[in-house]
Amino acid sequence: MSSLPVSRPLRSRRSNLAVPGSSPKMLDKAKGLAADQVFLDLEDAVAPLAKPDARKNIVAALNEGGWEGKVRAVRVNDWTTQWTYADVVEVVEGAGANLDAIMLPKVQTAEQVVALALLLSQIERATGLEEGRIGIEAQIENALGLTNVNAIAAASPRVETIIFGPADFMASINMKSLVVGEQPDGYDVGDAYHHILMSILMAARAHEKQAIDGPYLQIRDVDGFRRVAGRSAALGFDGKWVLHPGQLDAANEVFSPRQEDYDHAENILDAYEFHTSEAGGKRGAVMLGDEMIDEASRKMALVISSKGRAAGMTRQDRWQRPDS
Ligand code: GLV
Ligand code: MG
Repeated sequence: MSSLPVSRPLRSRRSNLAVPGSSPKMLDKAKGLAADQVFLDLEDAVAPLAKPDARKNIVAALNEGGWEGKVRAVRVNDWTTQWTYADVVEVVEGAGANLDAIMLPKVQTAEQVVALALLLSQIERATGLEEGRIGIEAQIENALGLTNVNAIAAASPRVETIIFGPADFMASINMKSLVVGEQPDGYDVGDAYHHILMSILMAARAHEKQAIDGPYLQIRDVDGFRRVAGRSAALGFDGKWVLHPGQLDAANEVFSPRQEDYDHAENILDAYEFHTSEAGGKRGAVMLGDEMIDEASRKMALVISSKGRAAGMTRQDRWQRPDS
C-alpha cells in the first residue's frame, strides 16, 4: 500500500536556476547563489557522452551539502530516451535523502508521470527513504503534453509544478522563430504564448500545483528577461527559470509581491479575521479603510500573503485592531 502524503510543502520557487550536471565548478558555484530552487541538469545541457559522469557529479554535489534554503531538484532525461531509468536510479539511490524533486522533461501523458512515481516509490522503499517525499516537476514542451496537461497535473500527488519549456515547445509546433520568449515575427495580433501559458496555469491551479515559466535565452538582456517574466508573473505564475546568475535578482523581484501589496494582504487577513469573530461582531462584509472586504477579498489576500511568506518577506505596515 502506498502512503504518499496528499499535501505537499509550500515552497518558494520564484527563481529556478539551471545548473549543468557536467560541470563540477558550476555545481559548486550554484550553492552560493540566491536562487529559490536549483535544478541540476542531466538533460539538454549535458552532452550524451557526458551523462554518466554528470550523474556522479550530481550525487556528489547533493551529498556534499551547502544547499540550505534552496529547493534541490534534478532534471532527468525524458522517457523517450534510453537514459531516464538509470538517471533516476543512480541519483535517488545515491542522494535521495538530499533531494527534493525530480524534474521530468517533455512530459506527454499522465502515464509518464505515473511511471516516474512508481519508480520513485520502489527506490524509496528499497533504500529506506520516506515514501512519497520526493516531488515531481512536469515540463510541458510539446503539443501532446499541452493537450494532456490537466491529466498530467492530476497524475500523482507527487506533482509539485507544471513548467513551460518554450524552446522545445516552439520546435514542437513549428513556430517560425528561434528567439525564445519573444513574439514570432509576423504575428502582430496578440501574445503567441497566451494560450499555452494560460492552459498550464489553469491545470496548475485546478490541481493546486505551482506554475513555472521557462527560460529566456538572451542572458545578457536583463531588461528583456524582466519584461517577459513580468507577463507570466502578472498572469499568476509562481516563478521562472534562470539560466545565468545575472537574471536571478530580476526573477526574485518580479515574482515577489510588492511590499505594499504584501502589507495590504496581511492587513486584510487580520481585519477580516477580527471582524468575522465574536469579538469583532461576526460581520461578513466590513470596511478596511476606504475599502469593502469580504470572503473573496480574504481569498485574494491569501494568495499574495502566501507568496510573500514563502519568500521570507516581513510586514512594514500593520493594521491595528480597533479594540487594542
Ligand atoms: C526548456 O527545457 C525549454 O525547452 O525551453
Ligand atoms: Mg526543453
